[in-house]
Amino acid sequence: MDDTLTTIMKRRSIRKFTDQPVEREKLQQLLEAAMAAPSAMNAQPWEFVVVTEKAVMDKFRHALMFAKMNAPAAICVLGSNRMQKGKAGDKFWVQDCSAASENILLAATALGLGSVWIGVHPLTIFSWQVSNILNLPEGVTPLNLIYIGYPAETKEVRTQYEEARVQWGPFPPGEKSKRSKKPAKKDEIILDESTDEHSDQ
Ligand SMILES: Cc1cc2nc3c(=O)[nH]c(=O)nc-3n(C[C@H](O)[C@H](O)[C@H](O)COP(=O)(O)O)c2cc1C
Repeated sequence: MDDTLTTIMKRRSIRKFTDQPVEREKLQQLLEAAMAAPSAMNAQPWEFVVVTEKAVMDKFRHALMFAKMNAPAAICVLGSNRMQKGKAGDKFWVQDCSAASENILLAATALGLGSVWIGVHPLTIFSWQVSNILNLPEGVTPLNLIYIGYPAETKEVRTQYEEARVQWGPFPPGEKSKRSKKPAKKDEIILDESTDEHSDQ
């Protein structure tokens, strides 16, 4: 199997970590993988906070009910209004930052690290807690925390493929459509005169 596909199947949420710190070069590689992600109109509406201080990790563990794991490091993926390179980020920042997040998870797997996505956005209480702990400035919104460390547990390599979830080709006609009225075009299209369509820069 292709190496990339193996990495995809190997990526699992790791929630037990050794005490070994994560090397700065590896964290750097994760950030480079994150910023290689696709984004709508290449707006790159993201920033990242890297945390390795135990005192700050302890604050996350204390404040967030689903973030108790003993990871030595975390990357907080931020939607960034202030750094985005086009207004497409206003609408698509969650998807864009999720693509960056998945790149971090996959790169971590490829580097022999364990990781787990801790959901923050859109839960306002988690968002508020993370914003306070990290002193986040105006113009950024935390999407998640990605806990990172050397794994102290192993998990099965797997797909979760289910044939029943796949429709090859359109659904057959007949079933009365539940779609609402056709939306007005102007509601759907991102208006950003400064951006040259989907240009490949
Ligand atoms: C948006 C999102 C939020 C998640 N939040 C948490 C979380 O707060 N805590 C946690 O332990 N895992 C969290 N996870 C990880 C999921 O529980 C995990 O991906 C899922 O159970 C499938 O397992 P796998 O990652 O090993 O394939 C989250 C995953 C996503 C995509």
